[in-house]
Amino acid sequence: MKKIGVLTSGGDAPGMNAAVRAVVRTACENGMEVVGIRRGYTGLINGDMVELNIRSVSDIIHRGGTILYSARCLEFKEEAGLQKAVQTCKDNDIEGIVVIGGDGSFRGARDLSLRGVPCIGVPGTIDNDIACTDYTIGYDTCLNTIMEMVDRVRDTTESHDRCSVIEVMGRRAGYLALNAGIAVGATTILVPEFDFDIERDVIERMRRTQKTGKRHFIIMVAEGIGGVEELARKIEAETQVESRAVILGHVQRGGAPTCKDRVVASQMGNRAVKLLLDGIGNRVVGMKNEQIFDMDIYEALSQTKTLDRELFDISYEISI
Ligand code: ADP
Ligand code: F6P
Repeated sequence: MKKIGVLTSGGDAPGMNAAVRAVVRTACENGMEVVGIRRGYTGLINGDMVELNIRSVSDIIHRGGTILYSARCLEFKEEAGLQKAVQTCKDNDIEGIVVIGGDGSFRGARDLSLRGVPCIGVPGTIDNDIACTDYTIGYDTCLNTIMEMVDRVRDTTESHDRCSVIEVMGRRAGYLALNAGIAVGATTILVPEFDFDIERDVIERMRRTQKTGKRHFIIMVAEGIGGVEELARKIEAETQVESRAVILGHVQRGGAPTCKDRVVASQMGNRAVKLLLDGIGNRVVGMKNEQIFDMDIYEALSQTKTLDRELFDISYEISI
């Protein structure tokens, strides 16, 4: 391939810029031209793109967000939208595309590959909910941001002998809630993957720990469960502990990527371009046991993964 495109799609994630940088530098160093497609599949449909060279990606490895911007594009899910995207590639001699995003973006990459534009998916989402890979770019930064924010909430929660019911992102997955919940010592963690009972897992646990002298509490709730305001009211009514709901929101998605996210993004972006250089498309890049691998995009999308039950059980045993 002589010319490839790169785009970021879906919710942005810290480290996406590091991945874009790796894609551009690897491609240029190996004699390929690269265009940056703006706002994900929207830019591909509208032909909104910019030529990138080695210097275009200077000073971005440490920046959150994405210099290519991101979007959710409904038009791309329709055949007409897909055909427009294919035409843009033909008109601009784009022979392959690196798609950095979540599993929705991977489905788009699959559909585009099926129509003759070879794509490589690079997992970029704070949620870490892509089945084929242990790790997605942005997850580590997000976990650390949540931890830092909750540490701050904890100071005031403790000062007032309160309970803070904290909602964290993750769409339908509980990876962020479980891991950040353990890191902040949450009394209870509620995730969509595992059944729970509010009376038993929240109220009774709080009462039990109150008897041991505990006076302030963090309850971590995954976005997929929701209802934090209502839960805070219930806790206050039943335990007489003054309670507040905290929805951390988009602060979780911003900020400078951690070292891990910069390194993994660099490795994954590099692998994606190496595949296209070899004329290989229709694959996704991932990480298993700390090793970068690539696999067929269909196979990747057919996989499922679930939360670590053992880790969840540990949290119940020690956060008491
Ligand atoms: P993420 O990539 O983070 O999972 P989304 O699910 O919002 O984010 O997907 C990003 C974009 O990928 C969508 O706006 C759409 O353009 C495309 N996409 C998502 N799902 C599909 C699908 N099933 N088929 C084709 N394209 C899809
Ligand atoms: O996929 C990343 C994510 O931040 C999810 O955790 C969350 O459910 C969603 O995106 C929020 O998206 P929006 O940008 O529409 O608020």
